[in-house]
This record gives sequence, C-alpha cells and structure tokens, in this order.
Amino acid sequence: MEELGLKKQNWDVKETELFLGILKELDMEKCLDGRKVRNTTIFKVAHRRMTAAGYHRSVDQLKFRWKLLKSAYYKGKREPNSNAPAKIQGWWRYEKTMIAIMESRHPLIGTGVHADRTDEATEDSEGDGDPPILHWQQPCPDSAPQNLNLDLIIKMDPEMDTQLKIGFIGAGNMAYGIAKGVLSGNVLPANVRVSAPSSRNLGRFQELGIPVTHSNVEVVCGSDVVFVAVKPHLVPLVLSEVSQYITDRHIIVSVAAGVTLSTLEEILPDNTVAIRMMPNLPCVVQEGAILFARGSHAKLEDGALIRSLLHRCGLVEEGPEAWIDIHTGLSGSGVAFVYLFAEALAEGAVKMGMPSALAHSIASQTVLGAGRLLRDSGKHPAQLRSEVCTPGGTTIYGLHTLEKGGLRATTMSAVESATERAREFGKKSGTKK
Ligand SMILES: NC(=O)c1ccc[n+]([C@@H]2O[C@H](COP(=O)([O-])OP(=O)(O)OC[C@H]3O[C@@H](n4cnc5c(N)ncnc54)[C@H](OP(=O)(O)O)[C@@H]3O)[C@@H](O)[C@H]2O)c1
Repeated sequence: MEELGLKKQNWDVKETELFLGILKELDMEKCLDGRKVRNTTIFKVAHRRMTAAGYHRSVDQLKFRWKLLKSAYYKGKREPNSNAPAKIQGWWRYEKTMIAIMESRHPLIGTGVHADRTDEATEDSEGDGDPPILHWQQPCPDSAPQNLNLDLIIKMDPEMDTQLKIGFIGAGNMAYGIAKGVLSGNVLPANVRVSAPSSRNLGRFQELGIPVTHSNVEVVCGSDVVFVAVKPHLVPLVLSEVSQYITDRHIIVSVAAGVTLSTLEEILPDNTVAIRMMPNLPCVVQEGAILFARGSHAKLEDGALIRSLLHRCGLVEEGPEAWIDIHTGLSGSGVAFVYLFAEALAEGAVKMGMPSALAHSIASQTVLGAGRLLRDSGKHPAQLRSEVCTPGGTTIYGLHTLEKGGLRATTMSAVESATERAREFGKKSGTKK
C-alpha cells in the first residue's frame, strides 16, 4: 500500500504553485524525466517543505500528484488550441492552469529543459519501468509517462466529470451530509439517486433536486458509485437484495459502523470494488473527517475517485482498515467528546454568572475558532496552547486545574474505550448495533 500520511483534502492552485516551486528549486528537470519520477529524495524533501508550509501530503501522494500534473501539462502542450471533449472540460481547464504555472511563474526553459535534451541513465532510473523522457516540444505518447490514460484522469477528478452517477441506499443524516458535499462539487443533482423504504427522509433530498425512489435496485442500476448508508445490521440484507445488479462498473462504499470489508466482500459478487468508509457528523456542514479503506479489489484510482468526490465533505483520508475503528473513537465519537467539553465550558461560565445562551454561543465559537486555527496553522496543539499561556496568567492556572482533573488521560481513555467498542462491533459484524 502506498505511504499514508495526512494531507489537505484538495489541491488548489496555491498549493500546486508551492509544490511546483519546491520541485523547481530542487531539480525540476530531473522531475520532468519520466524515468526518474520515482526519485524519492526529491519528493521526500518536497514533502518536508510542504509539511512545514502547512500542506500535509505523503511522499507517495506528492509523487502521484506530480504524475497527474505532468500528464496535464504535456497534454496541454501537445494540443494547445484544440477544444477539450465535453467529458474532460474540467480537466482541460486544469491543463491550462498547469501551463500558466509552469511557464509563467516557473519558467522551465530557463532551468535547462530543452527539446533536444537526452536522458542520462542514473541509479535513480535503474529498474524503473517508466518510459523515457518526454521532450519539451514533442507530443507526449498517450501511454507515457505515467501509465495514465484519459479515462483514469477523468476518474481522478470526478468533480469535473458531470457524468458520474452517484447513488445512496438509505436517506438518513449521513447520506444527506455526504450528498450535500458531493453536490457542492460538479456532480449534478440529476445524476444522484437516493432510496429509502419510507418517504420521511426523502423530501430534503428532493429539495436538493435529487430524484428519489423506494427501490434500492433502481439506485444500483443507475449509479457508478453507491453509498450504502443504512444502519449496520441492515447492510447484509440490503446488499443481498441488490447484489445481482452489481457489476464491475460499480464502486460500493459502505459507511456503516463496524461492518468490515471482509463482510462486505463476502456478500458482494466476486471482484466487486468495495470501500469501507467512516464519516462523522460534521459532514452535514462539510467539515467532516472521513477515513476510508479500500477492499481487496479496489485500486489506487478508486480511492482517488472517492477522495476527490468527497473532498467537499471535509477532510478525506485513506488508511488501512485497522485504523477505521480508531477513527471511529477519535472522530466519530470524538465529536461527542468535543460537545461535552463545549457544554462544560459554557456551564463553567454560567456558574460564574454569564447568561446561559450567551455562554453556549461563546463556547461553540471558541471550539470552532480553536479548531480552525489548529487546522489552518498546521501547528501542534501543544504549541498553540503554549502561545496562549502567559507565565503566571489565567490560562496556565486553568490548564493546571484541567491536568489535576485528569482531562488528558481521561480523553485518551475515552478514545481507547470507543475504539475498543467499535472493534467489538466489527467482530460481530452484521449483528444489530
Ligand atoms: N450518524 C452518524 O454520525 C454516523 C457516523 C458514522 C457512520 N454512520 C453510519 O451511517 C449509517 C447511516 O446512519 P444514519 O445516522 O444516517 O442513520 P439514519 O438517519 O437512521 O438513516 C438510515 C436510513 O436507512 C434507511 N433504510 C432503512 N432500511 C432500509 C432498506 N432496507 N433499504 C434502504 N434504506 C433503508 C432509512 O429509511 P427511512 O428514511 O425510511 O427510515 C433511513 O433513511 C449507519 O450505518 C451508521 O453506522 C453514521
């Protein structure tokens, strides 16, 4: 499995510029050499610098991104004036951006990349199966240099592919939160389908312009990616019902707590691409934290598709399945831990004489502000905490009280207990939660 690490969920032009700037400074010419794209040293250094700048990407994520960027760049160079086919309009825009970035702000010609340059075999390229360098002014062979064809590129940026069909089996809170995130990309409401046995939850999907149905089979037949968002004990029932309609075009994504990939794969037809995903409640305000694990038939690009599709739901990370239960303890249940802390903050203020409504309003803003600063600054929480602590001041007195009360150890134990409980559910996969 590729190296895993934290990252910001979506790349924007600013991050791309930074990444390209770092590569250029390190050795862009080397990076442009298709055979040397595996040069780990460069990407390790880029990884460190980007992390320092607050962009958390793993080395493999950087390498993979570079492959995509390079592919877009060469395609744009190859066909500067042609119109993009309707299916890849979005990606085409990105190619133009790539050329603007690479040529205007990072002029590669000046770095010694010439049309007539030849490759040198180095230890970096030994054993590397990538095709030879693509010359600056020569067309890029469709197969080179990243084994990425356009179909794959389309899959990598589904938000730009308005043709992708998304289905939801189950119309509860989690389906609604994910649907809202998916729609805030380029997926069209008409290309989404939702099913539930009753109509009680379907109205809010209709308000988003999403067609609804009581037939799970209809959802599966009309979708490429199907989110299974029913209660965990209903997953086997629902999957058995639709199983015969699942083909190799489908990606089945289960969000059910405690239902393991092996359970899913046992029920689904052989070779089905299955993904187990654990979202949390703030997905409904597009500030969720999602961790997913790929099943044995899900490829890297299937994971990339899901990441790209869900990036508007909040942070989206991939990890081994063993981390899903930890994520449940940390983030699924962690949301409730934060609410408890927010409530306690407010109660403390009420005790000291502040009106309750104001205290709760300030407590929630405090949690929100602290969270955003923590995420956006990229600093370790201990560092931010120490920045608030004036020697002998109010905060250190308060922190001492929290430490005496064992807040840190208690919180760690809470994550541990919730994780263990999630593991118990996993062992009883398929039984009622
Ligand atoms: N909520 C969370 O914070 C959270 C976090 C992580 C994971 N999850 C997981 O997300 C899943 C859904 O949770 P939720 O909170 O969204 O649940 P929910 O609000 O209770 O929604 C469940 C939905 O499933 C529908 N349903 C029931 N039987 C069905 C069937 N046979 N076929 C199709 N749909 C059926 C229900 O239909 P009706 O509308 O007719 O009742 C309802 O719309 C669960 O597996 C849970 O473990 C939830």
